[in-house]
Amino acid sequence: TRTRLFSSVGAASLTPTYEKLYKKYSEVRRVLGTQRLTLAEKILYSHLNNVEESLLTNTNGGRDVRGKANLKLNPDRVNMQDASAQMALLQFMSCNLPQTAIPASIHCDHLIVGERGADDDLSAGIKTNQEVFDFLESAARKYGIDFWPPGAGIIHQTVLENYAVPGLMMLGTDSHSPNAGGLSTITIGVGGADAVEALVGAPWELKAPRILGVRLTGKLSDWVSPKDMILHLAGLLTVRGGTGYIVEYFGPGVDSLSCTGMSTACNMGAEIGATTSIFPFTEASSRYLKSTRREQASRDAALLQSFPGTGASEDAHFRFKADDGAQYDELIEINLSELEPHINGPFTPDLSTPLSKFKETVMEQNWPEKLSAGLIGSCTNSSYEDMTRVESIVKEAEKAGLKPAADFYITPGSEQIRATLERDGTLETFTDAGGIVLSNACGPCIGQWKRQDGVEKGTLNAIFTSYNRNFRGRNDGNPETMNFLASPEIVTAMAFAGSTTFNPMTDSLTTPDGMEFRFPAPHGLEGPETPFEVGKDALKAQSQSPDPNVEVAISPSSERLALLEPFNAFPSSDLSGLRVLVKITGKCTTDTISAAGPWLKYKGHLPNISANTLNTAVNAETGEVNAAYDLDGNKHTIPELARKWKEAGQPWLVVAEHNYGEGSAREHAALQPRYLGARIIVCKSFARIHETNLKKQGVVPLTLADEADYDRINAGDEVATVGLYDMLRNGGQGDVSLRVTKKGSGEQFLVPTKHAVSKDHADFIIAGSALNLLSKGL
Ligand code: F3S
Repeated sequence: TRTRLFSSVGAASLTPTYEKLYKKYSEVRRVLGTQRLTLAEKILYSHLNNVEESLLTNTNGGRDVRGKANLKLNPDRVNMQDASAQMALLQFMSCNLPQTAIPASIHCDHLIVGERGADDDLSAGIKTNQEVFDFLESAARKYGIDFWPPGAGIIHQTVLENYAVPGLMMLGTDSHSPNAGGLSTITIGVGGADAVEALVGAPWELKAPRILGVRLTGKLSDWVSPKDMILHLAGLLTVRGGTGYIVEYFGPGVDSLSCTGMSTACNMGAEIGATTSIFPFTEASSRYLKSTRREQASRDAALLQSFPGTGASEDAHFRFKADDGAQYDELIEINLSELEPHINGPFTPDLSTPLSKFKETVMEQNWPEKLSAGLIGSCTNSSYEDMTRVESIVKEAEKAGLKPAADFYITPGSEQIRATLERDGTLETFTDAGGIVLSNACGPCIGQWKRQDGVEKGTLNAIFTSYNRNFRGRNDGNPETMNFLASPEIVTAMAFAGSTTFNPMTDSLTTPDGMEFRFPAPHGLEGPETPFEVGKDALKAQSQSPDPNVEVAISPSSERLALLEPFNAFPSSDLSGLRVLVKITGKCTTDTISAAGPWLKYKGHLPNISANTLNTAVNAETGEVNAAYDLDGNKHTIPELARKWKEAGQPWLVVAEHNYGEGSAREHAALQPRYLGARIIVCKSFARIHETNLKKQGVVPLTLADEADYDRINAGDEVATVGLYDMLRNGGQGDVSLRVTKKGSGEQFLVPTKHAVSKDHADFIIAGSALNLLSKGL
């Protein structure tokens, strides 16, 4: 019993967070008995809304959960970055709730441009984005959300330093949120609509991931860092290899890694498509909690692990590591002792080349030999360990009279790390060497980089970064910039050499005195000897209780922010009088439906961003891009015609081919068509996440039962549904057909379709959107 358990640890009691975790975990054990579990499963299943139902329904007595069960989860908190927080908060506001159901935070990091250096860039960024920051700050005050102002740091670093404690489940509105897995949390990157579900207290749904085990042995050698481990793994698994999996690290090699090193590996799990990644709680994790002034959290984690086993199995203690004998769906072994530095790229994070082969590859591929810039830091690699390892080699090079031959930029991940590195002299070493310290924000990592080196758009050039992603155009908007990913120490050594073919482990540079200089192996400290500095007061979090009197700042004349109107509920009948807006041919990704780039600034303004809807889609009947024809034959762009029909009260549908909506979980790709009057999307097949997003926004996704019917439907045809209303009322049961009336001839025929509408989805569609339904039930 609990009394016995409490007394057995000297009457100590658990924190509310661990009390909840412990209770749920006991239920998991009662249902699953002695089944051996991975750490990811322990934490994930201990956040189930209904343990018994989720683990037993159709899953072979709970033994077959992975890849099959639909888990309904209750996350502990939500973290949002400034770009994606805008639509998440606008949706949350439309629910009229006084506060968020779970703790949340907003981090202003994506909108600051890197150009001249921290101070100038920060004030310029604040000026350009003032109204967005004012909106986020006022919404934070109204709903009791922690607000981290511009300059406070990058979301993932700030979350790791302040919110991550082992055993938590968090959602983050950014794909690199799994960074916090380095502190034994389950943290998943999601879109704004998913975040809102958690913010209103609704269970968040996830298909139970499979578990990919990575067993680490050995110990990293001098020039090798945890970054090299994940760069190597990305090469092995490719950008899709982790899809549907949680990557769980284990084995004796784990104990040799720092907590921030483990986070780097988890951060870049996004590059292999993993749902998230996680490491066990180690001595290093405990040291990290202490140096970030969270001794209590470290003691709490130890206390939880000292509680005896519960449920059916007396030995089933909660431990922040996998049970002995836990099974993995896939298993990879990496001997850290045998690993060498890796360089990944260009243009994809899974093109991995060991350092020793890189010169040869550069020559073979005719990649640029000149290095134009080296950029270190970011949310991925700005830890104390990373920066002091870099410092050690910069100091030696300086002593020899060398300066970086390429531009050298440093992005601290947070004010805390920046202030600590300043206190300990590390930043001075970088600036003395000619490095430019950028603000504690995303900057060049997300395309917010105004290059000062005269490299024009369209010019082929090479940069080295310690960031996580290297898609074309991602850093400076120049599709010809080749970004090679490497550890901060390799990036730095390459920047001193100014060459992509330099191997700091074997090659030498010539000093101004004509001497030969060989970099010594880097060495650094895992963390500071005294705890981290907190930094400038103005850059601390504003934490507050909800205040209903706060007016959320949105100017009615704003071009960047607009309040959302709830969508109309589904009519009490089938749909009729719909018209086909456009028939699309070929790939139609979420980028095709809602382009990024210059449109990012309208993320909080649905009417304005909707002007990009389907603007790179190819018209199947004419082969033109972004062309649609009105019933009178007049040509428009697709978004223009959609808006014209919206204003005329003409509902519409789109007909498309395979894998409609592939790409990201971008919610705007579902919101925009819905806003402009789409009721149905009919295609040969859907990308799964987008199909769900459409249903959440009240658009009905239907697939053609016979693909040949794609050829029989054309733009301008009139469409009515047959059976749709009954299917929705029956919780997704029943068939739906489309009655098509040809434009011109008036010929009619029925097109049978298929759908994947569940009871929950049917309820969303009937209510007009998931949010309408959720806010009704609150
Ligand atoms: Fe920002 Fe780049 Fe990280 S955009 S969150 S620094 S991946």
